[in-house]
Amino acid sequence: MAPMGIRLSPLGVAVFCLLGVGVIYHLYAGVFSSRLAAFRQRRKVDLRDLLALSVEAAVLGGKEVKKVREENDLKERSKGKTKEGANELLTMGDLQSHRKMYNLMRNTFPEVTVNSEERDDVVDKTITWSRNIPTDIAKKIQGGKDVPVESVTVWIDPLDATQEYTENLLKYVTTMVCVALEGKPVLGVIHQPFTGLTAWAFVSQGANVQPRSSYSLTPPKVIVSRSHSGDVKAFVHNAFGNSTPIVEAGGAGYKVLSLLDMHTSENMDQADVYVHITHIKKWDICAGQALINAMGGHLTTLKGENINYSDTPLNTGGLVASVGVDHKALLEKLPKLDSEKH
Ligand SMILES: *[C@@H]1O[C@H](CO)[C@@H](O)[C@H](O)[C@H]1NC(C)=O
Repeated sequence: MAPMGIRLSPLGVAVFCLLGVGVIYHLYAGVFSSRLAAFRQRRKVDLRDLLALSVEAAVLGGKEVKKVREENDLKERSKGKTKEGANELLTMGDLQSHRKMYNLMRNTFPEVTVNSEERDDVVDKTITWSRNIPTDIAKKIQGGKDVPVESVTVWIDPLDATQEYTENLLKYVTTMVCVALEGKPVLGVIHQPFTGLTAWAFVSQGANVQPRSSYSLTPPKVIVSRSHSGDVKAFVHNAFGNSTPIVEAGGAGYKVLSLLDMHTSENMDQADVYVHITHIKKWDICAGQALINAMGGHLTTLKGENINYSDTPLNTGGLVASVGVDHKALLEKLPKLDSEKH
């Protein structure tokens, strides 16, 4: 008589085991992935730390910008032409500054998204944050302003006004860092390596710059780009009248500073409104918008739309920036642009 029992074939055992693994996986995978999500969500960053880091990055990049200019070894080359035919330059100043600024950001907060105007593969783990909170920031801003890392987008411009940099028109040159929260600029730093000035702002918390006491709209003094300014001049005269004073300048960072109270800097231009009618990249304007918003001003497309700083780098709607005036009234004066052309 054969003993009682279940005879297991090897195939049966294999199928049974696989089923078992499947059931266990099913039971635990859900738990595991929600734990992981919760762990990710708990990753926070203090905005005051990010502000201090942004200032440090802008200053560090600025040192490279200055060094390359002083050594007179720019190695400039063209990155190609913009849609408007302007030559886009890249120099060693842009590149060295990018390497410092980008690596400093990445090494300090590896999970934060960082968009830089320049791109290269040099990884330098030795560049680390001092963790120093500058006195003026510590005085005006309280710590503990934690936000989830995934809501943050950082925009870096390692050298704004490269054309002017090569021409030795150095007051226009800036390095910039911007922090956007869910696409909205909250922290902005604009540093002028050749004057040593660093402007910073934390929207609705504090800044080390302030608006001027008065601005004119009848007519405004309008600041525009000094390269390919033909069309924008016609646009400005069309909007505010033919006698409207126009200042031509280099660099989006510089143009934003010209709207503020820069009494410490003698050879800064002063303007009431900043207008740009062609495409512009978000690392050129994000820090400026943070500063302007912190002053109670506005920076929008020519149609008055908000610019979202959590998506693609290109802003196609032009821009108009103002502080201390009725921005809506300003927008209403602007002529309609042929959207095909721009
Ligand atoms: C920007 O776009 C993202 C993704 O679509 C959205 O979540 C965010 O609220 C937008 N931010 C602003 C300021 O419009």
